Amino acid sequence: MKRSVEEHAERFSEKATEYDDSKSDEYRACADLVVSYADPGSDDVVADLGAGTGAIALAIAPDASRVLARDISEGMMEEGRRKASEARITNVEFAYGEFREPNLGDVAVDIVTSNFALHHLSDDEKREAIRVMAAAGARRIVLGDVMFFGEPDPEEPFYSPEVDDPATVGTLVEAFTDVGFAVTVAERVHDQVGVLVAERIGSGEEVPGAE
Ligand SMILES: C[S@@+](CC[C@H](N)C(=O)[O-])C[C@H]1O[C@@H](n2cnc3c(N)ncnc32)[C@H](O)[C@@H]1O
Repeated sequence: MKRSVEEHAERFSEKATEYDDSKSDEYRACADLVVSYADPGSDDVVADLGAGTGAIALAIAPDASRVLARDISEGMMEEGRRKASEARITNVEFAYGEFREPNLGDVAVDIVTSNFALHHLSDDEKREAIRVMAAAGARRIVLGDVMFFGEPDPEEPFYSPEVDDPATVGTLVEAFTDVGFAVTVAERVHDQVGVLVAERIGSGEEVPGAE
């Protein structure tokens, strides 16, 4: 990470109340795809990591049994809780959780989602985060994020090289494959923005740390 967890948390908390106001078309397309590919059933527990103000968690909640929304920024989660209360959504629980220690307790998670958040981690940290997602027991992981389909281009607006550290699509696919998942969908929204859907193959017992 190019900043500490605490610095990232502070950065997001400072802009939390305006966060929802200015979103790019690509961000919206990405979020819509994550919601649509997550496709939970009414019994499914979803963990939304880097949940922010709840763009994914709150959209998924009506279709899921329960959504565990985890983030490091109290300010972002406070906005999320406010939006949930306004929309009378009661099955989303916002709580502190870092990608590599998501604080999911002993709850059996069916689906993990994450949108526009994992790119704050270095590639090694992303691999560790993806290992932790797999170990939570999920059958499906849906990742929307800044990711490079071609060559990285710092002139593009989708990331700030001082604070963000996006991976190539190849690195992410390899990380999912390494923990026993097959990437069944790779949707390119922009050369630097996409959505990957990874499905567990096999029982999961072969994944280090999985139940
Ligand atoms: C660009 S926002 C995306 C929020 C939401 N997923 C969305 O689609 O609008 C990135 C979020 O990732 C969170 N974040 C950054 N680093 C994180 C980490 N290491 N673990 C968990 N969350 C993190 C930030 O606090 C912020 O809320």
